[in-house]
Amino acid sequence: MAEPVGKLLLFGATGDLAQRMLLPSLYGLHADGLLPDGLTITGTARSEHDDQAYQAFAKEALDTFLPEDRKDESAVGTFLQRLRYQPLDASTLEGFDDLAKKLGDISGGLAIFLSTAPSLFGPTIKGLESAGLAGPNVRIGLEKPLGHDLPSSCEINDIVASAFPEERTFRIDHYLGKETVQNILALRFGNALFEPVWNAQAIDHVQITISETVGLEGRAGYYDTSGALRDMVQNHILQLLALVAMEPPASFDGTAIRDEKVKVLRSLRSITPEQAPHLTVTGQYGSGAVTGEIVKGYDEELGEDSDTETFVAIKAHVDNWRWQGVPFYLRTGKRMPERHSEIVIQFKPVPHSIFAQRGGLLQPNTLVIRLQPEEYVRLLVMAKEPGLDREGVRLREVPLDLSLTTAFAGARRRIAYERLLLDLIEGDPTLFVRRDEVEAQWAWIDRIREGWKANAMKPKKYPAGSWGPSASIALTERDGVTWQE
Ligand code: BG6
Repeated sequence: MAEPVGKLLLFGATGDLAQRMLLPSLYGLHADGLLPDGLTITGTARSEHDDQAYQAFAKEALDTFLPEDRKDESAVGTFLQRLRYQPLDASTLEGFDDLAKKLGDISGGLAIFLSTAPSLFGPTIKGLESAGLAGPNVRIGLEKPLGHDLPSSCEINDIVASAFPEERTFRIDHYLGKETVQNILALRFGNALFEPVWNAQAIDHVQITISETVGLEGRAGYYDTSGALRDMVQNHILQLLALVAMEPPASFDGTAIRDEKVKVLRSLRSITPEQAPHLTVTGQYGSGAVTGEIVKGYDEELGEDSDTETFVAIKAHVDNWRWQGVPFYLRTGKRMPERHSEIVIQFKPVPHSIFAQRGGLLQPNTLVIRLQPEEYVRLLVMAKEPGLDREGVRLREVPLDLSLTTAFAGARRRIAYERLLLDLIEGDPTLFVRRDEVEAQWAWIDRIREGWKANAMKPKKYPAGSWGPSASIALTERDGVTWQE
């Protein structure tokens, strides 16, 4: 199955994701000679385009969303020649035969990228099957939202499984396509240094933050039915947690890595309804200023009152030997003061300070893995300040800095989807999410939502441009922990 396919079929080909991410990513792969020769890309959506009109549509998307230094007229020209288009109303079976006709011979393999409204999942899978587009040489990539809770996710997974077995199903979490996220594995398992201290004996707690400055971004229809817990924690944050907490896999392959991740996800301690008000905080942004710009509150942006959370903070635990007693503080929010994604590993203090009598103060070590926008790994270590120490020993925390941007200055930063689309085309499932992982993620999230419902918890307002409601600060301060900002 790990053969590159000869054809790619994009559902949602005129949507926002296609314009911003998929077309620029495919172009990036094409321009670097990474797409198989002769691979054609067929777009489909409701809009009535022909091939030429779609090529013009794609050209405009590339003009708008490609960075200037990536625009190469001749590469754009040859890329556009790969594109075809077939209009389709996926809610009925009728158009699928025409789609199959348009694709023509798929004996060289077909990869499908499905990003579609949840209501169209079932009809689309049925349509593909009825038109002979679900055979053994077809694999399917699925973009979220794949359900809104465990039952609806199982329903979608069952529908997909009725036509595509798990080894041909590629569930996308675009965080796994990010270079720095993959770097967590390199850091942990490519260095002998960390593994012996990567456990409850040496680690005090872990923080995972994904903060965003954006608000609704015109996605009200989706976002208001989702909220931060389902939009960000259920997938991206739990995947980061799994990569940080997993046992060393025996090899770098899809089965070994996903086996270890799912064990972590299943070890997440369930948050009971009684605990939900103490272990979780939800918020919704009001009006305020973000990076110097005055912005509306969520309700105003939405145009109606809503109880959807745009911020969530959680104190989580992984119940296994390695992580017993180590809190994982998770938080994500929109309209925060800055955009950053970061993992902080806070080590415990040394067991005994030999410097205390001489006035030297020690800080426990901290490892910061900054995923974006900057990419670095920073270990904060104690060092002695230069001097003769007549008035006592002076110690200071200094960073051991690995800037990935500097260390790999020659390497182009790729869009996460470049990696994922190429892996889908080539059939490597390692960076895709397996069904058992998704279901473990939902089971944990659903329990939290039950708790919110049982306690009639409503999100607390926070001003846009702040780090969320003050209760989020209290969540960690109660344990003597401060969020890294
Ligand atoms: C998406 C969410 O999955 O991730 C968005 O639906 C969010 O709400 C986005 O803005 C964040 O992705 P990134 O790559 O910009 O951190």
